[in-house]
Amino acid sequence: MTKILTAIKPTWNGMHIWNYMWAFKPFLELAEGKEAYIFIADYHSLTSVHDAETMKRNKLRLLKEYFALLPKNTKIAVFEQTKVNRINDITWILSSVTPLSLILRGHSFKDSKNKNSEINMATFNYPILMTSDILAYDIELVPVWKDQVQHMEFARDIAWNFNKTYNTDLFKLPIYHVDKNLQTIPWTDGRKMSKSYDNFIWIFDDEKTLKKKIMSIVTWSETLEEPKDPKKCNVFALIKLFASVDKQKEIAKKYKAGNYWYGHAKLELLDIILEYFKEARERYNSFENDMSYIEKKLSEWNKIANKLADKKYADMMNVIGL
Ligand code: TRP
Repeated sequence: MTKILTAIKPTWNGMHIWNYMWAFKPFLELAEGKEAYIFIADYHSLTSVHDAETMKRNKLRLLKEYFALLPKNTKIAVFEQTKVNRINDITWILSSVTPLSLILRGHSFKDSKNKNSEINMATFNYPILMTSDILAYDIELVPVWKDQVQHMEFARDIAWNFNKTYNTDLFKLPIYHVDKNLQTIPWTDGRKMSKSYDNFIWIFDDEKTLKKKIMSIVTWSETLEEPKDPKKCNVFALIKLFASVDKQKEIAKKYKAGNYWYGHAKLELLDIILEYFKEARERYNSFENDMSYIEKKLSEWNKIANKLADKKYADMMNVIGL
């Protein structure tokens, strides 16, 4: 069975609807009928999160979100990167076959370097750890957003370098998949998403906050009576993501007929989002008081991840003569 994997860093304080649409949902769809893994890239978040309380809070929230959004009794294994004992050992071995010139080409550390006067070594070495995340479990397919394409190319190069250096075929080169259907989705103000614009819609915010966020979506300023073009509207772009086709048509008609206020569309969007995430939001709240299910599953799945990584590490040690 094809092995597929993805990961999210607990860098942000929560999963927003775009994370869900561009990463989580495509992953669930691709994972059908495959052996699937999804992990919390907590070591990776150390490049930017240096406060224990923030780290704990982010990680806990992300865990609850994963488990709330995954179908009940899912076979997709969720695990924690930092609980995989050999992951950094594997990273060290891989770093010894990774040319400096390769990593120097990395866009993401160059971007950080341009923005900050100093960057840490974890930011620089990031692609090597990410390569271990994939090779440690013999992952064949990694669905990624386009910002991760270079990292995936690096993972393939590093796997290839190891095989070539040691004249082995220990690693299969992982394949990545970029979802081309996904267009850039407008944020609440039609601008690019950014923490500083505060234009995210978090899936698990309470209803009041969610409403406030949705009501603040930027729209045009026609009068109430004027017919409106749904294609030009940020609210409608979001309605299209979450509503059934019939519902979309019904709302588009109202836009075009006039006497329909953007505020009305926003309230419809709120209902649509609440309905879409109803079960997940209930499950998320149930975890507020009881983490036992999550803890039990994590301990099971962390063991599975360790077993795979231990085996890979043993094979690598054998190949390198240690
Ligand atoms: N670098 C990814 C991101 O920033 C997260 C990540 C870490 C990852 N390790 C991975 C994704 C392995 C896929 C496979 O989104």
